[in-house]
Amino acid sequence: MDFVIEMLNIRKEFPGIVANDNITLQLKKGEIHALLGENGAGKSTLMNVLFGLYQPEKGEIRVNGTKVHISNPNIANELGIGMVHQHFMLIDNFTVTENIILGKEPKKSGMIDMKKAEKEVQEISEKYGLKVDPHSKIADISVGMQQRVEILKTLYRGADIIIFDEPTAVLTPQEIHELIEIMRTLIKEGKSIILITHKLKEIMEVCDRVTVIRKGKGIGTLNVRDTDTHELANLMVGRDVLFTAEKTEGHPGRRVLDIENLFVKDSRGVQVVKGLNLDVKAGEIVGIAGVDGNGQSELIEAITGLRKAENGGIRLKGKDITGLRPRQVTEAGVGHIPEDRHKYGLVLDYTIGENMVIQTYYQKPMSKNGILNVKEIYKKARSIISDFDVRTPSEYTKARSLSGGNQQKAIIGREIDRDPDLLIAAQPTRGLDVGAIEFIHKRLIEQRDRGKAVLLVSFELDEILNLSDRIAVIYEGAIVEIVDPKQTTEQELGLLMAGSRKEKAGEQSHV
Ligand SMILES: Nc1ncnc2c1ncn2[C@@H]1O[C@H](COP(=O)(O)OP(=O)(O)OP(=O)(O)O)[C@@H](O)[C@H]1O
Ligand SMILES: [Mg+2]
Repeated sequence: MDFVIEMLNIRKEFPGIVANDNITLQLKKGEIHALLGENGAGKSTLMNVLFGLYQPEKGEIRVNGTKVHISNPNIANELGIGMVHQHFMLIDNFTVTENIILGKEPKKSGMIDMKKAEKEVQEISEKYGLKVDPHSKIADISVGMQQRVEILKTLYRGADIIIFDEPTAVLTPQEIHELIEIMRTLIKEGKSIILITHKLKEIMEVCDRVTVIRKGKGIGTLNVRDTDTHELANLMVGRDVLFTAEKTEGHPGRRVLDIENLFVKDSRGVQVVKGLNLDVKAGEIVGIAGVDGNGQSELIEAITGLRKAENGGIRLKGKDITGLRPRQVTEAGVGHIPEDRHKYGLVLDYTIGENMVIQTYYQKPMSKNGILNVKEIYKKARSIISDFDVRTPSEYTKARSLSGGNQQKAIIGREIDRDPDLLIAAQPTRGLDVGAIEFIHKRLIEQRDRGKAVLLVSFELDEILNLSDRIAVIYEGAIVEIVDPKQTTEQELGLLMAGSRKEKAGEQSHV
């Protein structure tokens, strides 16, 4: 059998946890091999072992049949193994080219030969259809393009085996489509791929085989054509999973959020929210559907006080909250599950306990007379961890050591637990496994049923269609249509999001 990579009986421990317990994964040449498992199952750990970032306690790795010791990522590179990480590892104020060649710069009389570097990058990027702008700074390009830079980086180093750790979690549907094409090109050019993803549809669409792990243990490897999404979900979670959330008719009450004629500029000073009107009532979930970059991020930042509103008004339960600082907005009764969990969600070097009280530590009972009540803080953390099934060795563990999906569950738990009148959920299930998604959907509906207002922003149209009582379509910075989810389809939503209008052509505003 032609295996390019064999990981045999791998064991990797961390303090208090066995992350990989006797796992075996064999990659055939020219295949796309999915690695599937719940949040915290040990997928990233196993791939970090293969990439030389962690040393296993037990087990053997073979590359093209030869036993190897991958003691650091440079050795992985030399063996032709490249990795595109779950959280990108690029330098923000370097250009695309500088990032790609970093540590492997072509030299001419002791100096970096930039001309040669640019030419090489250009060649690889054309060969694999990876469009990038070589001179742009990382900070100025889209997430999709940053990912292409990560891929180019591995190819520039000569990778034949490419590990993708949840590459599609951060991408828009359009970008996912492009990435799938790129992966197919890579295979045609003789590469082999290991793909970690929680999206079962993607596995069915592009993968040849899939290895399933659960709680650190290998469950088995299947041919994708012999299985389906229900079996895969069952294997990884250990029970049946409902793919559509059940909910009863909503009973919307008074307006909780009321936005009138809002104007907001983005970081480059361009007006991206332009005269937006929207309201969310108590006891309803309003979903915002839109193509990325139509002002949805800036809208949320304006509501939560992270960005200045140029004009217009934002009211919460009738009270003007326009221009308040983030803490004041929080105190007024707004919860926020942010799109970027590392930037606004968690302080990675704080413990999970500290992160759970990041907005409330100065209030009773977390503080008394200006002194932190550590006992109360960790009691609160324990209750959120158990309520939301955050898989962590303890509440004293640093947030950084949690798996990506468990970091996300911790943030969602903290925000729902504060029981805000308005809960803003931006891409709430990004990076979550199917079982966790089912659970979080239930909790969002439960908030609605308790009379809270929920504003949901998501690129997953099934999520929007499934959860929302009303769908607000955002296009070029304004809500152009309010749609009843029961009376629409993904296709119709797609068209509206692309700017086509329903029958009411000619009207200025539909809100
Ligand atoms: N550097 C570390 N230090 C301590 N514990 C760690 C470290 N990295 C991972 N872990 C633990 O190992 C386990 C497996 O984590 P891993 O990141 O491999 O999960 P995963 O399958 O990639 O999950 P997700 O789908 O959420 O990304 C988790 O319990 C995690 O908390
Ligand atoms: Mg992971």
